[in-house]
Amino acid sequence: MRGATLSGTGSYVPEQVITNRDLERIVDTTDEWIVSHTGMRERRIAAPEQASSDLGTEAARAALADAGLEPDDLGLIICATISPDTLIPGAGSLIQANLGASRCGAFDLASGCTGFIYGLGMAAGYVRAGYCEHALVVATETLTRLTNWTDRSTCVLFGDGAGAAVVSGIEGEGGLLALELISMGEAGDLLKVPGGGSRRPLTPELLAQRADRIVMNGPELFKLAVRLVPEVAERLVARVGLQMDDIDVLIMHQANQRILDAAAKRLDIPDERVVSIVEKYGNTSAASMPLALDIVNRQGRLRPGDNVLLVGFGAGFTLGGALIRWTQPPRVPGH
Ligand code: ACO
Repeated sequence: MRGATLSGTGSYVPEQVITNRDLERIVDTTDEWIVSHTGMRERRIAAPEQASSDLGTEAARAALADAGLEPDDLGLIICATISPDTLIPGAGSLIQANLGASRCGAFDLASGCTGFIYGLGMAAGYVRAGYCEHALVVATETLTRLTNWTDRSTCVLFGDGAGAAVVSGIEGEGGLLALELISMGEAGDLLKVPGGGSRRPLTPELLAQRADRIVMNGPELFKLAVRLVPEVAERLVARVGLQMDDIDVLIMHQANQRILDAAAKRLDIPDERVVSIVEKYGNTSAASMPLALDIVNRQGRLRPGDNVLLVGFGAGFTLGGALIRWTQPPRVPGH
């Protein structure tokens, strides 16, 4: 049966760094609190002239180069984002135009931080069905533009960045082995931007209340993530007849080091197999997993036959995981 594999990865982060010390000057917080509660030390912020599609275009170009493909080889671009440049047109179409990809469809996918997993599932299905040979999943976020910079419980968490992967058809073994997508819309209020949509179009009053910015119930999300992320991981591993010990690399949504530690402990996966980029990049929403994936790929840590498990959670509330048997040769570190 025709399969779908990841044939290239790429990422991009803006140059400007915001450290915990910088945040101490903006809100009533301390480096000690942020590090001990989240594991974060710094995050990136997009330049004023950069929007999500600009970051995504860079990540997409890097993923295409890694796959050895040209933009015209793509049949589909899926852009996972909750911070598109504009509602209309979508960021996926802007990235398509920036790349100069002339023979492909493009759309945006808004499943919060789980968006990359949703995109992988859609791309793999499209490729497997034979509609195209190569699809691009690009997750790009400028959540600092949706951040309430007077709310210390959220503004210390988010950073900007983008990650991308090319999904290509293969014959035979490997690639995407299992996928699980879950939506729990009943818990949607845990993370939301209350204004600016068709329910509450923005007015000067709503803008004054910062209704266009993220509101989050962190402790409840924390509890959900620690309980549900390991459950998804266990189901995916069992579905393909593997043991947790067979997982070579675990990449979870990078929301908080304490969530990564608690989930890894529950799964009994040793630290060296768990990828964390929280310290350097904070929470980059949908971009966090493909950014982490590209970083370990560029370090040469992924080898053919490796079982790579991705599990994410985020706004919606959404949840999802993908189990991938790596098929590409290891990258030479530094290239
Ligand atoms: N600096 C100093 N003190 C702070 C800060 C801060 N930046 N933020 C909150 N506090 C205070 C609170 O006011 C509270 O004080 P109080 O006890 O006097 O009321 C105290 O610290 C404890 O606050 P909690 O909210 O209970 O802190 P907690 O340990 O739960 O950490 C955090 C908060 C980091 C948000 C954590 O709950 C978390 O990471 N949750 C998960 C969030 C998440 O996953 N979000 C992403 C999901 S989707 C997406 O990624 C887009």
